[in-house]
Amino acid sequence: MLTRLRLHSSFRIAPKSLVPRPRLTSRYSTTTPPKMDQSNHPTRPKKLIFAPGDIAPEPSTPQHEHPSPSEVSTPTSATEAQILSHPAQAHQFGTNPPLTISQLSPNPLHQFNTWFHDPRLLPSSAPETCVLATAELPSGRVSARTLYLKELDERGWVVYSNWGSRAGKGAQVFGAQVDQGQEPGGMPEPHEDGGLETEAAGGNKWGALTFTWAEVERCVRVEGLLEPLSREESLVYWQTRERGSKIGGWASWQSSVLWEARGEEIPTLRKDIELAQKGDGSDGVEAVDDADGRGVLEARVREVEERFRGVEEIPLPPFWGGMRLVPESVEFWQGRRSRLHDRFRFVKEGEGWKVQRLSP
Ligand SMILES: Cc1cc2nc3c(=O)[nH]c(=O)nc-3n(C[C@H](O)[C@H](O)[C@H](O)COP(=O)(O)O)c2cc1C
Repeated sequence: MLTRLRLHSSFRIAPKSLVPRPRLTSRYSTTTPPKMDQSNHPTRPKKLIFAPGDIAPEPSTPQHEHPSPSEVSTPTSATEAQILSHPAQAHQFGTNPPLTISQLSPNPLHQFNTWFHDPRLLPSSAPETCVLATAELPSGRVSARTLYLKELDERGWVVYSNWGSRAGKGAQVFGAQVDQGQEPGGMPEPHEDGGLETEAAGGNKWGALTFTWAEVERCVRVEGLLEPLSREESLVYWQTRERGSKIGGWASWQSSVLWEARGEEIPTLRKDIELAQKGDGSDGVEAVDDADGRGVLEARVREVEERFRGVEEIPLPPFWGGMRLVPESVEFWQGRRSRLHDRFRFVKEGEGWKVQRLSP
């Protein structure tokens, strides 16, 4: 794309070929100029972790303590050599059989079901763990969070959450009108035509789910459109939850801010807690709760417990329920040696699917 530049009148117009091209994009083309070191080179940010897993924290360093500046400096060539010779650096995929088209089902949902039930995936590794990414409009700002897959049916992948909060994924998916007051708003219901009341509110129904199963060197990526389950469908799952989780579902206005302070205040807060613990000889639970907002949540839990005292069937909150990701594309990834992985992507085509092999 060409950009028209307005030149100051005192500039001499030079022959076109001699005018140095303005740098339209630059590595440092942010609004804040980069910080320079003494020799006028941009300073490199100090690395806290380099190749995760390779540099273990000093055993004597308590987890909450910040390392001293010398410990966080950019690795020296000696430490880099040590890092590169570490076995983790040389990790190779490919201890599992390759993935070929002959193993794939014509339907990606059925294929996912087969992979999900692979006996090598131990329940203790929670293979239902996935990451859902959504994006806010019009900014395009993306956010992703870990969720549990609860259902897979012929239509798509279903997760359950609070979708009524202005602060979280609900507002991204349904638009700002989801949350109009202090409390989370209601979750829109699908209409018979498949549309939603919030279509006009700037919601973005596109979402992506990723599953990573490291023990079998596999990954599945799903992209598609998010649609809420009907209240009746959500209720079926809600009723399987234990009472404490139902109370928690009502009490937590998910992702709304309960408390905040400036980072610099943390050492003072820590001291206050220590003093409170020493002063009253308690284990400090209350002091901790009061100091960082946990108490606000606990108070809400008590309110909700009171509200539903004697109520056997706690109702489904209007802001809570299931969301189905209806796939437009589904990729199955199997790790192979030398990063030459097998990747097959199903792409929706009319009523069926086309399948493609992707370059690793
Ligand atoms: C392993 C794991 C599983 C989770 N499962 C769920 C879940 O099924 N539903 C849910 O609402 N939050 C779940 N969470 C919490 C979410 O990651 C997240 O904090 C919450 O949904 C708020 O996201 P939001 O601010 O984007 O709305 C889980 C977190 C972890 C670490």
